Amino acid sequence: MCKYGKGDTTWFTHDRFGMFIHWGLYSMLARGEWIRHHEQISNEEYQKYFDLFNPDMFNPREWAKAAREAGMKYFVITSKHHEGFCLWDTKYTDYKATNTPAKRDLIREVVDAFRAEGLRIGFYYSLLDWHHPQFTLDRIHPMRDRTTPEEFNKGRSMKRYAKYMRDQVTELLTNYGKIDIMWFDFSYPGPNGKGRDDWESEKLVKLVRKLQPDIIIDNRLDLPGSGDIVTPEQYTPDKGMVDENGNPVVWEGCQTFSGSWGYHRDQTSWKSPKMCIELLINHVSRGGNLLMNVGPTSRGYLDQRAMDRLQAFANWMKYNSRSIYGCGQAPAEFVAPADCRYTYNPETKRLYLHFFTWPFKHVHLADMADKVQYAQLLCDGSEIKIRTRSSAIHTGLNSVSPENALTLDLPILLPQSAGEVPVIELVLK
Ligand code: GLC
Repeated sequence: MCKYGKGDTTWFTHDRFGMFIHWGLYSMLARGEWIRHHEQISNEEYQKYFDLFNPDMFNPREWAKAAREAGMKYFVITSKHHEGFCLWDTKYTDYKATNTPAKRDLIREVVDAFRAEGLRIGFYYSLLDWHHPQFTLDRIHPMRDRTTPEEFNKGRSMKRYAKYMRDQVTELLTNYGKIDIMWFDFSYPGPNGKGRDDWESEKLVKLVRKLQPDIIIDNRLDLPGSGDIVTPEQYTPDKGMVDENGNPVVWEGCQTFSGSWGYHRDQTSWKSPKMCIELLINHVSRGGNLLMNVGPTSRGYLDQRAMDRLQAFANWMKYNSRSIYGCGQAPAEFVAPADCRYTYNPETKRLYLHFFTWPFKHVHLADMADKVQYAQLLCDGSEIKIRTRSSAIHTGLNSVSPENALTLDLPILLPQSAGEVPVIELVLK
């Protein structure tokens, strides 16, 4: 790890929840950000989107406000995705937002807006670039079946492209103040692929660490030991993630609302608000962060489906965020009952019991008889009565606590602020 330096992840494992933003020309085609690959679209055929890109309803203050209200503490935006289009005013290409009808540095405005809402800043930067004149053909390039390497690669040099990346990364990490995360995406070594030698990953990492010493770098540069975080994508690991020696690693799962990262108009596979909240809890209960993606429309706003889900996070986080911030995986001695998840705050020594289904009308916590001094519903701070086998009064009427278990007697109906997933806060002895 230390060979390439190390970023500061202390704030990151405390804050737990961030917003991913995928925005580019692909939002106009509205079929996801891999559209050039899927439909094998050439630079020439793709040019019309650049000429017409006009986010006339772009107001990053609205995005930032929605993110903050949802409880997100940082964000990561695609400064450039695989299509090669740059959202900022870079000196190193004309293929940038300033030269479209948008006519401005969109990254600058996004950074200013999110900073003003108190969120930390992350840049996603695609290692792939399907538009760049030096980038060579490979197995996932949009032109892979439309030309040959001999023809396509004539005059191209990945060395020059790697230099271009370093120049751009230097701009991003010099001109926008303190940047907290650098999110490179992605490597695909092997036959006809690209990896660390193509990206010159080592030079990139050294450059990033030099320009922003505390920055967090992800693990997609194909350079073992260089990443501060592990980044599972579109799935939730079923337990905490560990390195080859079995030690826990810092990880962040990135997830979409509907499957695609870039705006997808016709996708109907949107996760329900409850599923979204469960995602967040699952990640934190396994010691990870959640980076939840939005794909703004080409006009620059977040569509209602995204806003509804951000609002669901906001409603839940308003009353329940204490079970997320500063929390992580509970020590192994605490085994959650069926349909429940624990998170744990090691500083306050409080354990948070999340119910994916609400039981009637008690729950037994195995082996917890002596461990809890007080229990309350997190959302309204109302006491939850606890009993053990020996403390029960009407043993014949109430369901009896199993040996060594702690039983929580629960209300049938919950306050509205409990939201999609009720949480009980256990103050440990
Ligand atoms: C992938 C995809 C990409 C997306 C990213 C997010 O590797 O290439 O479209 O930006 O994952 O994690």
